[in-house]
Amino acid sequence: MSETVKRKIIVGVTGASGAIYALHTIRTLLQHEVEVHLIVSDYGAYVMESETGFSLKGSNLVDAFAERFTGASFTGEILRYSNKDLAASVSSGSFRTDGMVIVPCSMKTLAGIAQGIAGSLIERSADVALKEGRRLVLVPRETPLNKIHLKNLLAAADAGAHIVPAMPAYYQKPKSISDLADFMAGRILALFNIDAKLFEPWQK
Ligand SMILES: Cc1cc2nc3c(=O)[nH]c(=O)nc-3n(C[C@H](O)[C@H](O)[C@H](O)COP(=O)(O)O)c2cc1C
Repeated sequence: MSETVKRKIIVGVTGASGAIYALHTIRTLLQHEVEVHLIVSDYGAYVMESETGFSLKGSNLVDAFAERFTGASFTGEILRYSNKDLAASVSSGSFRTDGMVIVPCSMKTLAGIAQGIAGSLIERSADVALKEGRRLVLVPRETPLNKIHLKNLLAAADAGAHIVPAMPAYYQKPKSISDLADFMAGRILALFNIDAKLFEPWQK
């Protein structure tokens, strides 16, 4: 009997504003049978709690997502790592994954990736995704952007990262913040070939 192999996607959450984008992205991955390998920076956890009231530190995160998103049914799972644990499996290219998304991505973590620092597990996993030719999606959030930010975005894009700025569209006529977050989650998941149908495609 063949067992279905779940897709493995690494999700990094850093301390930029827009934590709700991470919540909607992880929720949707869980709805699509994805094994989520989750790494949260200290400020990622801090901003998440302060902006959404959601704690990424609890013991059963899938249950916490089920409580947050009542009615959603989950077929995926979450494996968590400390951002300080550079010996974790996801730190090595020999651990095969379908890629990584960092949502939201702070300018600090972007800088670390653009310069190849690999000093935290999030930076190292991103570095591994690039060197192995795997999908790396960065969802940067800052405004205004200075020239260092812009240069780092270009360096990351030149190295193969997909830059998906936290810039939801308004032609969908969003009725809530949740609609805006769904739009971003939908655009992120499309890059992993997951059609989550979170918003209607544009039609004239
Ligand atoms: C409430 C709050 C909001 C923040 N928003 C942003 C932001 O939108 N973009 C950004 O690049 N940094 C932002 N920061 C700063 C980062 O959290 C800080 O640079 C931190 O060192 C990032 O570390 P990390 O990438 O390891 O999470 C914010 C910090 C706080 C406390």
